[in-house]
Amino acid sequence: MMREEDFEYKVAASGRVNIIGEHIDYCGGKVMPAALSLKNTVYVRPNGTDTINISWTTLPDTVSLNISELENYRHLKYGNYQAGSALLWQKAGHKLVGCDMLQDCKVPFGSGLSSSAAIEVSTIAALATVAGEKFDNVEVALCAQSAEREYAGVNCGIMDQYASACGKKGMAMLLDCKTLECDYLPLELGAYSLVITDCCKPHSLADSKYNERRSETEEALKILQKRLDITCLADITPVQFSQCAHMLPRVLRMRAEHVVNECQRVRTAAQAMRAGNIELLGRLINQSHASLKNLYQTTGFEPDVLVEAAQNYPECIGSRLTGGGFGGCTISLVKTECVPEFKDYLLKAYARRTSYNAVCYDAEISDGITVEKLK
Ligand code: GLA
Repeated sequence: MMREEDFEYKVAASGRVNIIGEHIDYCGGKVMPAALSLKNTVYVRPNGTDTINISWTTLPDTVSLNISELENYRHLKYGNYQAGSALLWQKAGHKLVGCDMLQDCKVPFGSGLSSSAAIEVSTIAALATVAGEKFDNVEVALCAQSAEREYAGVNCGIMDQYASACGKKGMAMLLDCKTLECDYLPLELGAYSLVITDCCKPHSLADSKYNERRSETEEALKILQKRLDITCLADITPVQFSQCAHMLPRVLRMRAEHVVNECQRVRTAAQAMRAGNIELLGRLINQSHASLKNLYQTTGFEPDVLVEAAQNYPECIGSRLTGGGFGGCTISLVKTECVPEFKDYLLKAYARRTSYNAVCYDAEISDGITVEKLK
């Protein structure tokens, strides 16, 4: 069993929450994630061979990846994300060196907090570090996204990997997913705190309807482009949409309506945050959930119960499902002094109505990639 102090570097990348702007990244709009202090940490050292040896703090398994055969590890239960990340980094022209890695994942799996992005981003940053390379965080994020798409088979946008790599302590990120320009906004919530709650219903984006939603938005775009001069759904204004919505079949119209309105909500949310209007932010968060539930249809029974219970709590001003959907975590804005009582209420209310027990995670808003030299 290798210990942390046996390694030369400690490289970490974050999980994330998305405050608002759901299913918008792959439609070319702006999203508002924030990186979390729940991280995947990779302890790494060179080993002078042509293999990457991986062990985990939480698993008995060990895996060896041959640097020249990285295509061949897609079937692995553990180590496939690392193999995909290494492969895509190599394909992008970077040198890989043999190394030993100890992976310590504190982002709960399948929680919708982007454990996979944290693993991919930290693994690439660790590989670059151990090869003596200075890396660009945005390039690491883009490469991690390619790994998720090409190796893990989830046709994701850039939000998770970007937040995981480029997050900043205490800051929400207003990320334009078309240009990759990012404004950092202090996440100052006044009298409120952000509570993260996992509905604990297992889910995986690879098996979910995530890819289907993405194709639906692409289909809607193609139809609307017959009338509108646009390159992505996020370019459509609410007025344009009301004039063209009839061109779309019902389901595609629902999906596009979510995208158009959610983009508008992100713009309003950024203004609300800049003005310190947290009550307005809360209302937008509630509207976002309703739209994900009714129009985009990416919520589900358990997340809806959790959000509804939170929204019924008098001192909670906003609650919604965060991330890809179909399970995972909700975020709630709650009066800080009521947080302990809120958590207690919420977990009990949820357990009464579902067959799962929810969990609240304590996390701060944190930096993305960090690299520490240990010896
Ligand atoms: C997942 C994907 C992201 C994004 C969200 C939904 O987390 O990885 O790219 O599309 O879902 O907003």
